[in-house]
Amino acid sequence: VKIEVYSQEDLPIAADALLNFLNDSTVISFFGPMGAGKTTFIKTICKKMGVEDNVTSPTYSLVNEYRNNKGETIYHFDFYRIKDEKEALDMGFEDYLYSGNPCLIEWPEKVSTLLPKEMVKVTIIEEQGTRIITFEK
Ligand SMILES: Nc1ncnc2c1ncn2[C@@H]1O[C@H](COP(=O)(O)OP(=O)(O)OP(=O)(O)O)[C@@H](O)[C@H]1O
Ligand SMILES: [Mg+2]
Repeated sequence: VKIEVYSQEDLPIAADALLNFLNDSTVISFFGPMGAGKTTFIKTICKKMGVEDNVTSPTYSLVNEYRNNKGETIYHFDFYRIKDEKEALDMGFEDYLYSGNPCLIEWPEKVSTLLPKEMVKVTIIEEQGTRIITFEK
């Protein structure tokens, strides 16, 4: 799936498309360079999932935990500042991955060997102000 996003107003449509694409997948990795719009897209996705909490990048804690309006838990990771994969193992990353709750992961390339095969890959690239968002399994 490939979606062109011209402004932030287009993100809710892209988020709906992603949620439909997921089916039963719970692990979603967001690839894309710094400033591509990963956190912004995750905010929109969380809103669509019924999260009313403030969604911000978990820069210091590696993970944020949100609760949606159905009482479900959603995890948001940002591994940009991680030193090595051991740091992710130490914070229990694998337990989160296999919890069955949605896991939204920024900078997944920093924990590439820990990621499950069964995962949805989202890539965001910016080209002259337009974002191209692609999804694949
Ligand atoms: N779809 C979009 N259209 C226009 N501007 C956007 C879009 N998505 C994000 N932006 C803008 O781009 C900037 C960076 O976005 P964001 O923080 O989401 O990027 P990021 O990929 O999470 O970056 P980082 O790698 O630092 O975590 C923000 O100022 C945001 O307002
Ligand atoms: Mg971010």
